[in-house]
Amino acid sequence: MSTATTAGSDRVVIFDTTLRDGEQAPGCSMTQPEKLRVARALSELGVDVIEAGFPAASRGDWEAVNAVAREVREPIIAGLARCTREDIEQAARALAPAARPRLHVFLATSAIHRQYKLNMAQEQIVARAVEGVRIAREYCDDVEFSPEDASRTELDFLAQVVQVAIEAGATTINIPDTVGYTVPDEFGELFRYLRKHVRGIERVTLSVHCHDDLGMAVANSLTAVVAGARQIECTINGIGERAGNCSLEEVVMALTTRAAFFNLKTGVTTSRLYPTSRLVSSITGMPIPRNKAVVGENAFAHESGIHQHGMLKHRSTYEIMQPTDVGLPRSNLVLGKHSGRHALREHVKQLGFELEEAEFNRVFEEFKALADRKKELFDGDIEALVLRAGGLQSGPWALEQLDVEVHSGAQAVATVRLRHTDQRVLERVASGDGPVDAAYKAIVQATGVPVTVRKFEVHAVTIGEDAQGEAILYVDCDGRSYRGSSVSTNIVEAASRALLEVVNRIELSRHAGARAGNEPRASGAPVAHSAA
Ligand code: KIV
Ligand code: ZN
Repeated sequence: MSTATTAGSDRVVIFDTTLRDGEQAPGCSMTQPEKLRVARALSELGVDVIEAGFPAASRGDWEAVNAVAREVREPIIAGLARCTREDIEQAARALAPAARPRLHVFLATSAIHRQYKLNMAQEQIVARAVEGVRIAREYCDDVEFSPEDASRTELDFLAQVVQVAIEAGATTINIPDTVGYTVPDEFGELFRYLRKHVRGIERVTLSVHCHDDLGMAVANSLTAVVAGARQIECTINGIGERAGNCSLEEVVMALTTRAAFFNLKTGVTTSRLYPTSRLVSSITGMPIPRNKAVVGENAFAHESGIHQHGMLKHRSTYEIMQPTDVGLPRSNLVLGKHSGRHALREHVKQLGFELEEAEFNRVFEEFKALADRKKELFDGDIEALVLRAGGLQSGPWALEQLDVEVHSGAQAVATVRLRHTDQRVLERVASGDGPVDAAYKAIVQATGVPVTVRKFEVHAVTIGEDAQGEAILYVDCDGRSYRGSSVSTNIVEAASRALLEVVNRIELSRHAGARAGNEPRASGAPVAHSAA
């Protein structure tokens, strides 16, 4: 029996590739525990497919796909592979524990890619595509094929490749606009052309995968759906290569808000969009622009008097969606040191987070400590605590103590005590041009990890003079880029913890490289994808 969601169906499959295409974006790399956390959140969000990674790209990717396949049981778990036996076997092994595995094989088809990247003739591409799909079918009944750079491929050749992929056993055909080049009318035509000229296309799920180089990824994806696609590949917050991918929250809310136009459904629980978006932003360190559609801070803020007046008369004058539809907290309720477990639990729930008991206990402990330092705690404070609580220590080093002395006209002096998981405790004293500089020097001395700070940002997560500050740090080390972040009422502490997160990531990636016997992939740098 076919499991395809064909063009006549009113159901659109949401295929999330935050952990694969999203993670390929510069500065968006995630550790394995972070990937698991995102995968669980995506499962709760109700996506149909999670593309968990590209197993042949690195040891870390393989392990992450394997861990997601073991632990996340509801959605289909997909792994990406080039059309080579080695890649496909690696992906199949990584996916082996999945309840519902999918192998996603891809091969570039456009003249530009054929000539400059692959140096292959059309006939060779056809043969390789067939081989890739056939090998994948040896391991899995659910096989997706993507002709990379499809939107810049000659239409008749694209149709030929798609047809042989279907004949070889592909169950989903995904049409990528790899370089974000197409425009809606043209892309709609492409889908109509394929549906008209490819035999058997009505038996498979037709999918769309758009990049946002010209800001049209969502529009192009919606046009494809109108033209018969029934799977949309997208990422949370639209993160991804270069300008990113089609944004999941935007495309889902377009289908939901304009249901009367599209007449299509998804399985997404829209009230989980905002917390999932915040989680991915906090883990990747990729901020959400204030004016971002659906999940940006300003998405539901009405500033002008005329708009406010209209809103007071009737919300629908200027609001096409309700904040609660996407899980935006209803109120900025204030908690304080007298608030108990029950109030905090309710508040956390209202913000859209489900915590396990152990996690909640950790949040409550930190909440009490923070409430002693800070009079009023706002949504942003609670959110920061929750997002931090689920994150496991990202590597071997933990900060035990930090003291800083600053005297005007003199250098600042920092004393830092760190504990390593091998039980070593190291204390170092260093001076610097300011408290953060001094603390950084002490941490670098203690850990022996030389980093070059490229960018350091601090911003308040809430309001008031005792607001918590989030420190975000971008550093280079061993020719790669890393990012770390932390939140505290003490900005020097936040900065030190952010640096320690980076040091931990570096140690882990050095360790992973040594284990895999090859160079670990640079944080966020393109992987084997471009060498397909
Ligand atoms: O953009 C692209 O072409 C891809 C494919 C691997 C689907 O990410
Ligand atoms: Zn892509």
